[in-house]
Amino acid sequence: MNFDEMIDRRGTHSAKWDKMEALYGVSPADGISMWVADMDFRPPQAVQDALQAMLDHGVYGYFGGDGEYLAAIRWWMQNRHGWAVEPGHIFTTHGLVNATGVCVQAFSQPGDGVVLFTPVYHAFARVIRGAGRVVVECPLVEVEGRMTMDFAAYDPLVAGKATMAILCSPHNPGGQVWTAEELRGVADFCQRHDLILVSDEIHHDLVMPGHKHIVMPNAAPDIADRLVMLTAGTKTFNIAGAHTGNVIIADPVLHARFAKTMEALGLSPNSFGLAMITAAYSPAGAAWVDALMAYLDGNRRIFEEGVAAIPGLRVIPLQSTYLEWVDFAGTGMSADEVARRVEREARIAANHGATFGTGGESFLRFNIATPRARVIEAVERLQAAFSDLQ
Ligand SMILES: Cc1ncc(COP(=O)(O)O)c(C=O)c1O
Repeated sequence: MNFDEMIDRRGTHSAKWDKMEALYGVSPADGISMWVADMDFRPPQAVQDALQAMLDHGVYGYFGGDGEYLAAIRWWMQNRHGWAVEPGHIFTTHGLVNATGVCVQAFSQPGDGVVLFTPVYHAFARVIRGAGRVVVECPLVEVEGRMTMDFAAYDPLVAGKATMAILCSPHNPGGQVWTAEELRGVADFCQRHDLILVSDEIHHDLVMPGHKHIVMPNAAPDIADRLVMLTAGTKTFNIAGAHTGNVIIADPVLHARFAKTMEALGLSPNSFGLAMITAAYSPAGAAWVDALMAYLDGNRRIFEEGVAAIPGLRVIPLQSTYLEWVDFAGTGMSADEVARRVEREARIAANHGATFGTGGESFLRFNIATPRARVIEAVERLQAAFSDLQ
């Protein structure tokens, strides 16, 4: 567990490092990649050992017998989230973007509206539009530094126009952990408009010290008949390339609809992903996550203090995830000028806020899950690129 180790990922088919020049014009020769959400760390040793055992055996056939995998999920959710999951409620998909796509197919019709609380993870809108459904944006409202939901304003936007809502909990971007009251508000809203609620909780393990994530079934047990939970260990353990996620559905009618769509799409699990997750959802994996979060909290402090020292820049303090959401509105600069300074002068690749939907236009999203020395370097480069504002 040496999170300070600099691992060179360039030339390893890493989207984060090997696509940044094409996407952001930032050369990997001296650039810092802070965009897509994966970490520059190795996963827990237990995950490496599980893969090594597969490699040593050397035969890579179809996967069969998911009992250990399901038991590992059950153990993790009970121990880390106080949530009792029935193994029979769990489906395995090729990650959660894939799961979102299957949900859209299973629970809505072409032309239906799907509610998003924006700004939010950009792949949701891509999947919804790609499937011929309509994104119904319900913009979050910032009140004293907190993203809040204005359900009274959303009611007329949604009434009769949508069949489904997707919640990102904790929220990406911004890393906000929703309170029990906020989650209840979403549940009531979905009941009021007869929406199926898909709760994407992929970031649920990446919670900063002092904050507590509440899984939707615990916040609103009365919406089990309309709730679809998306969870994965791929963000938690930095194994996004394993493309393995779960859809957990307690309601028998929704469960049957989802099962039918999985069958229609010919989906079956990836044995590498299942082996890695089974190993990770363990006491050793839990200890690794605790150490990871203590380390990321240190990166968070350095990044937030360094960025807050630049006049005109404002950073929303992270409660979870490793994705810092920085507002450049106070500089008075256009989004193009901000991007030019960050990409050309600081030589940092960061996600453009506008891609997350309404409300993200003046922001950039920075991934701080990298060795601390690199976070310090990034802060220094940002301070230099905006030094004329001092
Ligand atoms: C909210 C959310 N859902 C899903 C994903 C991606 O999931 P997967 O890699 O399992 O497709 C991300 C990645 O950043 C995310 O932030």
